[in-house]
Amino acid sequence: MPLLEVKNLKTYYYTLRGVVKAVDDVSFTLEKGEVLGLAGESGCGKSTVAWSLLGMPPSPGRIAGGHIYLHDDEAGETYDIANMAEEELRSKVRWRKISMVFQGAMNALTPVHRVGDQIAEPLILHAGMTKEEAMNRVVELLNMVGLDDTIAMRYPHELSGGQKQRVVIAMALALDPDIVIADEPTTALDVVVQAQILNLMKELQWKKKRSIILITHDLSIIAELADKVAIMYAGKIVEIGPSSEIFNNPQHPYTQLLLKAIPRLRGPIDKLAYIPGTPPDLMSPPPGCRFYPRCPYAMDVCMREEPEMVEVGKDHYVACWLHSKR
Ligand SMILES: Nc1ncnc2c1ncn2[C@@H]1O[C@H](COP(=O)(O)OP(=O)(O)OP(=O)(O)O)[C@@H](O)[C@H]1O
Ligand SMILES: [Mg+2]
Repeated sequence: MPLLEVKNLKTYYYTLRGVVKAVDDVSFTLEKGEVLGLAGESGCGKSTVAWSLLGMPPSPGRIAGGHIYLHDDEAGETYDIANMAEEELRSKVRWRKISMVFQGAMNALTPVHRVGDQIAEPLILHAGMTKEEAMNRVVELLNMVGLDDTIAMRYPHELSGGQKQRVVIAMALALDPDIVIADEPTTALDVVVQAQILNLMKELQWKKKRSIILITHDLSIIAELADKVAIMYAGKIVEIGPSSEIFNNPQHPYTQLLLKAIPRLRGPIDKLAYIPGTPPDLMSPPPGCRFYPRCPYAMDVCMREEPEMVEVGKDHYVACWLHSKR
């Protein structure tokens, strides 16, 4: 049984202008100790998936359908996060079983409180620790992410970007969750610090057999870390498979174009491809395959009917009419 099984998840934003189908029928699984990379261009629904997994899509978003099964080994229970009461989610799942380093979290640290107090607060409020227990745990957590104890006494503005990112990773680890979601954890950091943060995540993963969902628009980061990769486009997963398959044998035209757009250190700069056009408005996405307006291989059927996921290799699935039988 996988640790996490997402089935036909739909998360929509109910805005005054209409319904934004940000996550529209997404399915995947995550095993214990596995690193899943979730990639795709801006606005394709990556963060909305992440927040849904915590059972808290940002307002005016709501989980509109599907299931998020989480297996709790300790309790011997399986929860459905997509259909769980808020109270139970809070006491059993959120931050305890699944936690998240949310996008931009390092810039959302409260400027007026010391870092140590900010890490300790949820431990006192939600985990029922005494102030002293919480402070001991804070030191443990800071050390775990490669920071020394003195950082606890500092204010966020006294830290570098890399240090702040380590602090928010420490916060996500506070209650020792089985799954950590990291949403763009290295964006806005310079390349050297990026590499340090990735190494830290690798270490945190293998030491505890923790599962990680790594979200980024940057496929080169996913190549470093992920066992499995899911490519999202316009609210849907268009291709998913083992990392080696996705990078060496990509089957969806969108994945192929995304891979071409990775800047290479040694390659000539004029070879850098970009994907013409932009993702569709998720309030009224095109019928059929959502990628067809930008797809170099678009056929008639692509504009009329949505392709289903088909297996094209071991554990490798793609939703594209080039592979589906009509
Ligand atoms: N609060 C909101 N209200 C309405 N629409 C929203 C809201 N938040 C996100 N959306 C829309 O939902 C879609 C998915 O957004 P999401 O933030 O999940 O994308 P993303 O893949 O994480 O993008 P990025 O790479 O820029 O972080 C987008 O079309 C976005 O405009
Ligand atoms: Mg995002």
